[in-house]
Amino acid sequence: MCGIVGIIGRKAVAGHLVDALKRLEYRGYDSAGVATLEKGTLTRRRAEGKLRALEAKLEREPLSGQIGIGHTRWATHGRPTERNAHPHATEKVAVVHNGIIENFRELREKLGKNGAKFGSETDTEVVAHLVTDEMKKGKSPIDAVAATLKQLRGAFALAFIFAGEEDLMIGARKGSPLAVGYGSGEMYLGSDAIALAPFTDLIAYLEDGDWAIVTHAGVEIRDVNGHKVERPIIKSSASSQMVDKGNHKHFMAKEIHEQPEVVGHTLAHYIDMTTERVQLPIDLPFDWKNIKRLSISACGTAFYAGLVAKYWFERFSHLPVEIDIASEFRYREAPLFAGDLAIFISQSGETADTLASLRYAKENKQHVLSVVNVPMSTIARESDVVAPTLAGPEIGVASTKAFTCQLAVLCCLAVAAGRSRGVLSDQDEQNLVRALIETPRHMAAALSLEPQIEALARTLTNCHDVLYLGRGTSYPVALEGALKLKEISYIHAEGYAAGELKHGPIALIDETMPVVVIAPYDKSPRREGVFEKTVSNMQEVAARGGRIILITDPKGAREATVESTLVLTLPDMATTVTPLVYAIPVQLLAYHTAVALNTDVDQPRNLAKSVTVE
Ligand code: M6R
Repeated sequence: MCGIVGIIGRKAVAGHLVDALKRLEYRGYDSAGVATLEKGTLTRRRAEGKLRALEAKLEREPLSGQIGIGHTRWATHGRPTERNAHPHATEKVAVVHNGIIENFRELREKLGKNGAKFGSETDTEVVAHLVTDEMKKGKSPIDAVAATLKQLRGAFALAFIFAGEEDLMIGARKGSPLAVGYGSGEMYLGSDAIALAPFTDLIAYLEDGDWAIVTHAGVEIRDVNGHKVERPIIKSSASSQMVDKGNHKHFMAKEIHEQPEVVGHTLAHYIDMTTERVQLPIDLPFDWKNIKRLSISACGTAFYAGLVAKYWFERFSHLPVEIDIASEFRYREAPLFAGDLAIFISQSGETADTLASLRYAKENKQHVLSVVNVPMSTIARESDVVAPTLAGPEIGVASTKAFTCQLAVLCCLAVAAGRSRGVLSDQDEQNLVRALIETPRHMAAALSLEPQIEALARTLTNCHDVLYLGRGTSYPVALEGALKLKEISYIHAEGYAAGELKHGPIALIDETMPVVVIAPYDKSPRREGVFEKTVSNMQEVAARGGRIILITDPKGAREATVESTLVLTLPDMATTVTPLVYAIPVQLLAYHTAVALNTDVDQPRNLAKSVTVE
């Protein structure tokens, strides 16, 4: 994940910018840079590699400006070279950026036609040119940024400084986090409170769509419509620890909200944004073409990620997939053929059942690939190859961001397998990759349903049982929704494939039983009529007095007119990416139900984050 800092100070800021960037190193990066105003002129120092390279450069060519922005870059668009390192600048503005500008290609083309000269391959540079264009039309820096933000699509955080403006820095947040720090006579911007901890513990977190006009005297925050808004200033505890809750009440809430950013970051690791192709950051010790069967094993939430992946691998690569709960895999005596592939999925990388399955697979001469979040974990170390999820530390016992990052990685692996096995054409791959790139934006839209979900959650607090239904890849999301609810609210919940309703669970339906139906309108030709079948299941529930909560998209909301249905409408999106986005409302529903019931959300009773016993 890229890291952002900005300082409007009273003395030279370059050293402080680098200090703050060091505190963001945990996010991962491959180049870094700072820009300050030297006698009114924007001046940059950038370096490939670690921060010591930037420090060495600053020693050779020091900067004395008292206002500046800094950045650690994790390459997305373009290689991790000095010329792609941030800040990006024109003679008028310098900008640092975290996230993805989805429409950068069309913007770059348009700007190029108007004479803009680009010095990098990044999506970020278009932002600098857009602001410059607006300023050349006579707009002030503030109005130029406002006009630019309206043209950008994607999930991102930005910080700007301007030539000749010693008392102005602007920050903007849409999807990726950004905080404002309050000092005495100095002000700061940072990706998180950890970066700003050496300077201040007074922090205001920007909300999605906010942008902040920062001066020495303070900050004016405007919302997405340009209206002035107040955001609470909180006292951060980040100085004493490297991981804090931000302005959230629980780690789980923070981790749910981090998803657009960490999923974007994970995708950027597996996708070449410039060519819109999957580019795995790992060397596979096998050829997908030689794999005859894939076995997937994992536990809990990670198992549900694997279940989604089964649909993807089968659809994109025509590979037969077997999936097991890890504690069952090694004991069921499944015949394994030497040279096949076994994938293990684990957030912690320490889950005993998953580890035992991995060892069993190795004994049976499988290639072992693990999808893990903790890079130095035992599962990672014992695997032939590791596909990392870049979710960052997950503290809440209930897994949230690790799940969606696992999905992001597994989807890229399935696409890579499909391409290599000749099932997906270049065009198929590009369509899938484009859909993945748009996912963080859809996730941000899903998060905006939170007030509605919070109100809905209050109505679940006196229920004893909740049923979750879904078909296709929404079936594992239903299982995950039920798991989330039971583990943190202690309300009994079950997930079912919607088609199974009439084979048993329908006996439970009465007016006290809410049924959560996860049903995006499935557009894929091979699944024609599937949505209508789910609507029939909803009719069956309604006929027995059941209360339905339907999570769908605009088309689904129009078509599913079943009585007693409350609808949560998500944006229209490619069917493939729906599990990543539809995970968010079910996480929020569980979270707010648990909060309303006053349970210990981050450390629910009887549960451990890492289950190291079989
Ligand atoms: O660390 P792992 O991903 O291997 O953990 C697997 C499960 O223990 C974990 O997903 C568990 O089910 C969570 N509490 C789910 O929220």
